[in-house]
Amino acid sequence: MLDFIFYLPTRIIFGSGAIEKTGKEVAELVHKVIIVTGRTSARKMGFLQKVENSCAAAGVTTVLFEEVEPNPSLKTVERGTEVAKKENCQAIIGLGGGSALDAAKAIALLCTNPPPLTQYFGKNKAPHPALPLIAIPTTAGTGSEVTPYAVLTNTEKEPHQKQIIAEDSIFPRKALIDPELTLSLPPDITTDTGIDALSHAVESYTSNRAFTLVEGLAKESITLLSKNLPSIRKNPENLQLRSSILYASLLAGLCIAQTGTILVHGMGYPLTSELGLTHGRANGLLLPWVCQFNLKSAPKKFAQLAQALGERTEHLTIEQAGEKSVEALSRLLDKLGIPKRLSPGLMKEETLKRFSQEMMKNQRKLANNPRLPNLQDIMNIYQKIL
Ligand SMILES: [Fe+2]
Repeated sequence: MLDFIFYLPTRIIFGSGAIEKTGKEVAELVHKVIIVTGRTSARKMGFLQKVENSCAAAGVTTVLFEEVEPNPSLKTVERGTEVAKKENCQAIIGLGGGSALDAAKAIALLCTNPPPLTQYFGKNKAPHPALPLIAIPTTAGTGSEVTPYAVLTNTEKEPHQKQIIAEDSIFPRKALIDPELTLSLPPDITTDTGIDALSHAVESYTSNRAFTLVEGLAKESITLLSKNLPSIRKNPENLQLRSSILYASLLAGLCIAQTGTILVHGMGYPLTSELGLTHGRANGLLLPWVCQFNLKSAPKKFAQLAQALGERTEHLTIEQAGEKSVEALSRLLDKLGIPKRLSPGLMKEETLKRFSQEMMKNQRKLANNPRLPNLQDIMNIYQKIL
């Protein structure tokens, strides 16, 4: 029997040239916004100008905060909030990759809720709804334009930690998703963010919290990404391919908005915050090994995952077909040039143990994972990438 809740309060405007509609979409909500973006690329690529022009044409006043760094810190969010409040902005536009969008979400929340932001780490902890948020992604991977999550780096803690705000009111009110903005992304960013999307889709599909509607979206996303991510490396300026990958990333975002992620993201966060790997790269390293660990828990599901990845499985047993999914993922990551291991010496044994112990405290990710690991299981998975 079908029995589920699918919550999405975001109006999705997808298509080539969608960015030109920003002003009209914002003007339906408010007349003064702050644009939150990174330090260079949105300006350099001319996207910022397009957003400003579109807002001006629709009678919307814009204020600019272009200080978001990769893996944004709490301090950046506090500074952005100060500007937004001082200027009496009524809404936030997040323009950029996952970092800019997540910082924009946190600023939207801190504009209407008392500091410090750290008290809102966790799920639905803020007493007041955030300011409305309009998301304009410029990479294809995070899916942040349709999720209620903001991932921030807590630089007040040593070692630095990635922490998550999950708050229904930071779901973007509108998402303008324009593949033209991703046309000139460099190959490494295209691959890394694409692998993040793939990881979202696979994690959501195999999560304990998956349900039929999510599974359908996730499978579609996985098929599109496995087919098109290798091709985009040869044809980076193919708008059709860019559009397909951005769409797949959107689908994967819709999925994790409902189910959250599992062990791959949980174990990957410290590889980014402490060892400096990109988020996508960290997920890519761990994805096949986590799937291999989870195989036993749901062989049928993994057999279907293999099919979504383009494997022929009709002559195989369910278990053999399931194993094909892990092989297919490894092969795909190989094709994308993702190494199978960390650089030698990057993660010491004692660090591996500490990361594993931290993972065991992450009750939500453990509960979402289809097979419950113990400390040794987590350590074994980390060992695979040494
Ligand atoms: Fe992610």
